[in-house]
Amino acid sequence: MAKKLYIKTYGCQMNVYDSARMADVLASLGYGTAETPADADMVILNTCHIREKASEKVFSELGRLRQARAERKQTGADMIIAVAGCVAQAEGAEILRRAPDVDIVLGPQTYHRLPEMVARATRARGAKDGNGRRGAGVLDTDFPPESKFDHLPAPSADQAVSAFLAVQEGCDKFCTFCVVPYTRGAEFSRPVTQVIQEARALVAAGAREINLLGQNVNAYHGEAPDGSEWGLGRLVRHLADSVDGLLRIRYTTSHPRDMDDDLIAAHAEVPQLMPFLHLPVQSGSDRVLEAMNRQHTARLYYEIVDRLRAARPDMALSSDFIVGFPGESETDFAATMKLVEDIGFAQAYSFNYSIRPGTPGAAMENQVPEAVKDERLQRLQAVLNAQQVEFNRAMIGRVLPVLLEKPGKRPGQLVGRSPYLQAVHVMADPSGIGRVVDLHIDDIGHFSMSGSRVAPEPRVIRSNPASLQEAVA
Ligand code: SAH
Ligand code: SF4
Ligand code: F3S
Repeated sequence: MAKKLYIKTYGCQMNVYDSARMADVLASLGYGTAETPADADMVILNTCHIREKASEKVFSELGRLRQARAERKQTGADMIIAVAGCVAQAEGAEILRRAPDVDIVLGPQTYHRLPEMVARATRARGAKDGNGRRGAGVLDTDFPPESKFDHLPAPSADQAVSAFLAVQEGCDKFCTFCVVPYTRGAEFSRPVTQVIQEARALVAAGAREINLLGQNVNAYHGEAPDGSEWGLGRLVRHLADSVDGLLRIRYTTSHPRDMDDDLIAAHAEVPQLMPFLHLPVQSGSDRVLEAMNRQHTARLYYEIVDRLRAARPDMALSSDFIVGFPGESETDFAATMKLVEDIGFAQAYSFNYSIRPGTPGAAMENQVPEAVKDERLQRLQAVLNAQQVEFNRAMIGRVLPVLLEKPGKRPGQLVGRSPYLQAVHVMADPSGIGRVVDLHIDDIGHFSMSGSRVAPEPRVIRSNPASLQEAVA
């Protein structure tokens, strides 16, 4: 019987991408997909360390897996348990100590070595002691000299309409609150040719939208075929021009300091590039931004937003905010509220500052009490939610190009995404999946919008004359 794999993914989109790549690697060892952990011969937890709550989840999940594994053993089956991702990188040895059922702990830069780890873990089963405990688990949290991307197999043949493609990984910015530079390692960009090859494979397998990923994606500086270095703007232009059938391009997550002129200009010039940008600001106070080592001011953020909106008047923004960073005063927080009011966000994530061991912020003395954080977060989220509702409401009566992605919940319905990632439902034939159609937005619900067709004519949605793509509405 074919072996089955179950991957549970926490955290950011990079982890979602990585989980798919781990599944690709293990497919070459004969692993298919399990519907539940109980059905799986191997379970991978792909973990996130960004806030305390995120990383705590891992140990409770491991408790459940231990139980599931015990039940499988009663039927003569077994389960390999692996922990991957950022908690694995940060707390690998601790995981093996606290959870002896774990067979493999692997960091984000070693996923190409999975086959070898599975072989070692399987051999280690022979070394179990009388209590049913395993021999020492396999721990691989190296930052190897080789790039995993040079060794991972091509993405699998069946892709969703919207796909992720990691172009950059790691971070050299060292914001004082953040674990990412420690868990993902130094900033690294994949070569242009590799990115284009993967993009073509994704589109050939059904993708129509590609979201370029990186912890610091606009710090991208990949090697071009001629040996020069390209920034993200150049890469986006090249993808738009040279990957036929690619209808939409997005990129995330960007850092304000790396929003260079070329990338901003690409928003004006590349029609495939969506007018929606996730640009985390964290705080509106220069004093706090300085303490966070963000390497930008509130003024720089305002300026970038102005330039983006000048390049693309329909540009909408999303952001991340941290409330209650050490030393944040009521005046500092007021500056964050003012920035939110001034800019106006279509969508945002906001969090209480979470102390992360080993980061400079953890050692700062002027920590803000939890109750103060909670109260500020509530005020911030009230404004951000109101802005989001207002942004969505403003779509009613408008016509938006919607990329149809998959069947909706109701029979005969499809669901797609607007340029602003709003889910839009429409009654339409499944043959529309993978196409961009103009939809009149009739109404908005809590989580989605409903639309109806407006454009009876085929609509040209690429302006590049070399490779015109038509979408039939
Ligand atoms: N690379 C991105 C963000 C990566 S982490 C950037 O530079 O903005 C995603 C978000 O998690 C961050 O934007 C931040 O808002 C939040 N975050 C990171 N560390 C945190 C911490 N210690 N406490 C609370 N939120 C945190
Ligand atoms: Fe973390 Fe800052 Fe790097 Fe973003 S830029 S990943 S917040 S250290
Ligand atoms: Fe979490 Fe690591 Fe992503 S800490 S947010 S999974 S880079």
